[in-house]
Amino acid sequence: MPLIEIKGASKGYGLPGSRTEVLKNINLSVEEGEFVVIVGYSGSGKSTLINLLSGLVKPDTGTALIEGKVITEPGPDRGLVFQNYSLLPWLTVEENIALAVDEVFKEWTPEQRKEHIAKHIAMVKLSHAAQKLPKELSGGMRQRVSVARTLAMNPKVLLMDEPLSALDALTRAQLQDEISEIWMSNKTTVIWITNDPDEAILVADKVIPLLPTSPATLGETMIVDIERPRDRKAINHDPKFKKLRAELISTLLDAKGRNKVKSSVQISLPDILPEDLTYTNSLQFLNRTGPKRRSDNKREEVEVAA
Ligand SMILES: Nc1ncnc2c1ncn2[C@@H]1O[C@H](COP(=O)(O)OP(=O)(O)OP(=O)(O)O)[C@@H](O)[C@H]1O
Ligand SMILES: [Mg+2]
Repeated sequence: MPLIEIKGASKGYGLPGSRTEVLKNINLSVEEGEFVVIVGYSGSGKSTLINLLSGLVKPDTGTALIEGKVITEPGPDRGLVFQNYSLLPWLTVEENIALAVDEVFKEWTPEQRKEHIAKHIAMVKLSHAAQKLPKELSGGMRQRVSVARTLAMNPKVLLMDEPLSALDALTRAQLQDEISEIWMSNKTTVIWITNDPDEAILVADKVIPLLPTSPATLGETMIVDIERPRDRKAINHDPKFKKLRAELISTLLDAKGRNKVKSSVQISLPDILPEDLTYTNSLQFLNRTGPKRRSDNKREEVEVAA
């Protein structure tokens, strides 16, 4: 049985009439210990998709399941890491993590909790900053705290929604390597959302494109059969990496291109009786009355290329 899955899910927002369908017929199945990355354009429905799994968004049709049980709300079995760190600003690194640990492991002794917290702070290389407040940390350090806090809750699956998008390229690269290293040591199941194809192939076992098909659909899974640890410099020359990258980018671009050709807007036109242009002399032409409305209320709906 897969650890976590989505079956035939669709999701839209808004009221009937002005509704936007965002996701259509999403099927996703992730086994325990897998590292899956979903790549998609900005605004294509990535957060909506991951939140079907977190329980923050309910599908209109279909279901999301963890260990075969329908997901109806967030739970400690699914750890969430967002783009914007979401740390409590008045608590230190240690206190931010302690808050989560105390909530989940209420039955543990204070010593057990302390050790567990220290272990996770060390895991993200922040032992020297344990007593600092979020405002005293760089963006990369804050995101490390966020990852440590989530991992410290021992979730069955880590759901990461563009965890590194707010960081500069160098810090981002460093964290990609650090998170990959942590994953190699603890093999927590990961579902990671990104808009960066290179990041996806560098960290994942499996990459799935989210196609901007309006509503968005998931494309075919691509297996990343590249040995770990992956060296970010060497990987650029790896033929497997180059092939996957080219395939992934062209899949996303092709879907966007197809979408563009198909994209159209619906406009509402008055119902007009076409003008009779069979004038026999210029006087008739000058005295013409122009097109007439068949009805004042009736309108014609037409679709034109956008
Ligand atoms: N709660 C909501 N109510 C109405 N519309 C929403 C809601 N959440 C998302 N949307 C719309 O659904 C679409 C997909 O949004 P979503 O946040 O899932 O995309 P995304 O791929 O995560 O975007 P980004 O790359 O900006 O994070 C967008 O057009 C967005 O405006
Ligand atoms: Mg998003």
